Amino acid sequence: MWGYKLGIMGGGGHIGLVHAACLAFLGYRVAAYDLDTAKIKSLKQGIIPLYEPGLEKLVHEGIKTGLLGFTNHINSLRDVDIAYICVGTPALPDGLADISQVENALEELVQVNKGPFIAVIKCTVPVGTNRKLSRRIKDIGLSHKISIVSNPEFLAEGTGIEDFLKPSRIVVGGVDREAVAKVAAIHTPPSAPVIHTGWENAELIKHASNAFLATKISFINEIASLSEAQEGDITIISKGIGLDPRIGPYFLEAGVGFSGPCLEKDLLSLINQYNAAGEEAPILKATLYVNNQRRRQIVKNLEKALGNLNGKNVGVLGLAFKPGTDDLRDSHSIPVIRHLLSLGTVVTVHDPMAANEAKKAWLMRQFPGILWASSPYFAAEGKDALLILTAWPEYQEMDLDILKQKLARPILVDGRNLFKRVQMEEQGFEYIGMGI
Ligand code: UGA
Repeated sequence: MWGYKLGIMGGGGHIGLVHAACLAFLGYRVAAYDLDTAKIKSLKQGIIPLYEPGLEKLVHEGIKTGLLGFTNHINSLRDVDIAYICVGTPALPDGLADISQVENALEELVQVNKGPFIAVIKCTVPVGTNRKLSRRIKDIGLSHKISIVSNPEFLAEGTGIEDFLKPSRIVVGGVDREAVAKVAAIHTPPSAPVIHTGWENAELIKHASNAFLATKISFINEIASLSEAQEGDITIISKGIGLDPRIGPYFLEAGVGFSGPCLEKDLLSLINQYNAAGEEAPILKATLYVNNQRRRQIVKNLEKALGNLNGKNVGVLGLAFKPGTDDLRDSHSIPVIRHLLSLGTVVTVHDPMAANEAKKAWLMRQFPGILWASSPYFAAEGKDALLILTAWPEYQEMDLDILKQKLARPILVDGRNLFKRVQMEEQGFEYIGMGI
């Protein structure tokens, strides 16, 4: 089995790279292919193009053992037994997921590898995509040599390695039983329950999982609005709800809402799949609606403290869509900052990971007015208020005496409920959380 040679299409992206490094760690020979020549060039030198805890070490190990190689020549995948397709499925303007990168990746592979091989679709694709790809293979007369297996990934950014090596479940969908079993057996011995099923079920399990997580967050945020109005504390309410084992404690953190490249995009795609089938998806639409409301609410919270925001100086802590990543894709911080700038606020931003030079330049092109701070204390210096948008642990560990001295007015508007109101008020802050 370890004799298999594996290929990764999209090996320079988050999902592709985590898969490549983890599969090499499990002892497979892996060729990670990406069209982005600059990424491949730096990966060959062991330079990782993104921040994911533990990834750099695994990539270095893989290169050292010779099990992991990076390439921008598709020919290197001419003899792989299993090819993982980990390319992007970005949202089209109408919200549906664009699967052209998946189609192109398979096309490219088939040009150099006529089989036998298994193409494993890891990316989140609309229901029916795996069947469509399989039909395409049949049309070109290769269905006896190439099998399509849906094996959705459930990796969260920031915990990608752990999620891969200790999965909660392994879902494999397809019609070729042998191929499905081979893909499941890659994780031998299986460290999690394995669900063998059809393509459509596998595709829907992935969509429904992300939609459920998003709904859980919007649900607690909706409860947070009432808690806010009634002077409750949503962190205690969440704990009280989550201790019921039928509900569970996860994804009940209220705040400025969910963001990032997955939950919102997949929710939109799912809503559009309902629309295309002439159906409504009222719960999913409400989930998105509540999430957008939270982004408006945080600006209202700032206005509650400062009045008209025109000309006010505000420090913003957190650009990444969540802690543990430098990913800015579809981060809630971007629309919130855009809103503040449109109101005439002077914005100074800090983020411990997502403020490297390339990202700064990208953001400066969008928002020429923003200023940068190299530490949270510099972001606070002389400001009318400090706004927390990402739950980085270092923000929770800030020295509150220093912070208060730095701020022109001791106002903390906390979109992630990192502090306790009583504690902050005792320290002399005006503290506005989300539902506390
Ligand atoms: C999500 C899923 O959690 C993964 O299982 C899935 O594999 C992945 O999408 C994907 O489809 O590729 P990810 O987007 O990396 O992973 O991050 P999450 O941990 O789900 O967080 C998403 C957003 O929800 C973040 O902005 C986070 O701050 C927010 N969040 C999370 C809350 O506002 N409250 C919570 O209680 C939890």
